Amino acid sequence: MALRIGYGEDSHVLAEGRPLILGGVKIESPLGTVAHSDGDVLLHALSDALLSSFALGDIGFYFPPSNLDYKDMNSQIILERVLLELQKHAPSFQILNVAAVVMLDKPKLGKYREEIQKNVASLLGLELADVGITFKTSEGLALQHIQARVTLLLSV
Ligand code: C5P
Ligand code: MG
Repeated sequence: MALRIGYGEDSHVLAEGRPLILGGVKIESPLGTVAHSDGDVLLHALSDALLSSFALGDIGFYFPPSNLDYKDMNSQIILERVLLELQKHAPSFQILNVAAVVMLDKPKLGKYREEIQKNVASLLGLELADVGITFKTSEGLALQHIQARVTLLLSV
């Protein structure tokens, strides 16, 4: 069995009056992401991690921000499109596990962990236990930013 590793990152500026969505889950927060799509940093980092595992470019290549069709787009559609690209490239690929870090100072995200894990697991056809998500603050260094980093392992 051949193994491939994938890694992706995303970050967005936060502002008042914008939604905050993480792994497809709506988070109650006075600040949300300023973004062209729905600004789901976790699904964007995950999508880039998947593409990077086979050197297939990145989501900006498949979904150029200049294309107005993608405005406010649900990031689950980005992920689905990326999974199709991988299937074309490596029809028998299987994701073994995903490990993600979300950096955000406020709000605390612990109470959302299981719902995010469940949603991401279901989007990828995995079990909840295969989707590790940790949360970190920036210790006040990036109060108006959110960042996600995702690594994953695939078998081919
Ligand atoms: O960044 P720091 O080490 O201070 O975070 C302490 C803990 O707070 C993390 O391990 C995590 O359990 C939790 N946390 C959280 N939501 C955040 C940031 C951190 O639940 N947005
Ligand atoms: Mg700490």
